[in-house]
Amino acid sequence: MSSARQIAYGVLLTVEHGAQSGDALDRALAGLDSREAGLATEIVYGVLRRRAHLHALMARVSSRRPEKMDAHVRIAIEMGAYQMRFLDRVPDHAAVSESVDLVKHAKKNQASALVNAVLRRLPPLPEKWPDEALEFSLPAWLWRRWVSRFGLDMARRLGEASLRPPEPFIRLQAGSELPPDCEPTEVAGCFRVTGSVPEGARRQDIGAQSVVPLLDLQPDQRFLDVCAAPGNKTAQALEMPGLKAIACDSSEARLAAFHAGGAHLVRLDAAQALPFTAVFDRILVDAPCSGTGTLARNPEIRWRLAQTELKKHAERQRRILRNALECLKPGGRLVYSTCSLEREENEDVVRAVAPERVRAERLRLPGRHAGDGFYAAVLT
Ligand SMILES: C[S@@+](CC[C@H](N)C(=O)[O-])C[C@H]1O[C@@H](n2cnc3c(N)ncnc32)[C@H](O)[C@@H]1O
Repeated sequence: MSSARQIAYGVLLTVEHGAQSGDALDRALAGLDSREAGLATEIVYGVLRRRAHLHALMARVSSRRPEKMDAHVRIAIEMGAYQMRFLDRVPDHAAVSESVDLVKHAKKNQASALVNAVLRRLPPLPEKWPDEALEFSLPAWLWRRWVSRFGLDMARRLGEASLRPPEPFIRLQAGSELPPDCEPTEVAGCFRVTGSVPEGARRQDIGAQSVVPLLDLQPDQRFLDVCAAPGNKTAQALEMPGLKAIACDSSEARLAAFHAGGAHLVRLDAAQALPFTAVFDRILVDAPCSGTGTLARNPEIRWRLAQTELKKHAERQRRILRNALECLKPGGRLVYSTCSLEREENEDVVRAVAPERVRAERLRLPGRHAGDGFYAAVLT
C-alpha cells in the first residue's frame, strides 16, 4: 500500500472526527517525500471537494446509501472512486486494490467485497449532473442561498471556485527582495506564486491580506487584535513601525501556535466584557465564522456546516463586536471581518450593533476576486 494513500486515509478519518483538513495534512505530511505528499494532498482535498459527486456515482451501484456506510469503508471507496474518475495518473486496478487493502488494514475484512464490487462497477462521470447543487458538489441549502443572494451567474462562479485548489500567495515585508516565480498583486506586500513556493516564505491568502490595510495603521498607534490567533493579521499589522499591539484569543492551543512576535498576548473570551478601556486607536475583530468564503481551502466546511449554525455565529459575532467597540478611542477605527459570505454574519452584524458607525464595506467573492472570500467593514 502506498504511504500517500495510507496517509490520505488517516487524514480523512481524522477530518471525519472534527479535525481541519489543512491542519491534519500538515501534521501527517511532515517528512514525507514530495511526490507522496502531493498525491496524499490531492486525494484528501479531492475527496472532500467532490464528495457529493462520489456519492452520486457510488449510489448508482450500491443499494447501501454512502451516508449510511461505516466511515472506514465509505472513505476507502470514496478514495478509490476519486482516483478512478478525477485523476489520470492512477490505473483503475491500482485504485481498486489499494482501497481494498485500506479496509483490510483497518480490520474491516468483511467489507472488502463491497469495496471491490462498488469500485469495479463504478459508472463514468455523467455529461451533466441532474441538478446544479450537485454540479458544484454543494449542499442544496447553501446553493439555494447563494443563488438567492448573488444571482445564478455569481453562484455558479462561487461553485466553480470552490472546486479549484486555492492559488498560492505569500506575504513579504516592504523592501524584501522579490523571490523568483512571484508577481505583485493589488494588495501591497502580497505576491502571487506562479511556480513553487519559495523556501521559508509565509503563505497567506490574498483575501486575508486585504483586511489589515483597511485599518489605515499609523506609526506608534495602540492596536488591539481581538480574535488574533494564529497571528497572521497581527504579523501584517506589526509591519507598521512602533505599533503597540495586544493580541487576544480564547483558544489556548491557537495562542500556543501564535507566530507574530512583538505583540502582547492575552487569553480571553471576547464575547464577555473586555478588560480594557477605550484606549485603542485601531481594533481588528477578525471574528470566528462559518468560513463559507474558504470552501476551496477548507472543503470539509461544506459538509460540516448546518444552516442553523449561522444564527449562533451571528449572536457571538454581535457580542464580540459590541465589546470591542467599547475599547475604541474617540476618532479611532475598527475593522470587523469574516471569511464568510453570509449576510447574517456580515452586514447584519454591523448593522445590528452600530449602523451609524459603518463607513465602508468590502466583500471579496471567490470566482470574481482572487483567493478566499472575505467580508470587511470599517467602523469609526
Ligand atoms: C478567523 S480566526 C482568527 C485568525 C487570525 N486573525 C489570523 O489572521 O491569523 C478567529 C479566531 O477567533 C478565536 N475565537 C473564537 N471565539 C472567540 C471568543 N469568544 N473570544 C476570543 N477569540 C475567539 C478563535 O480561536 C480563532 O483563533
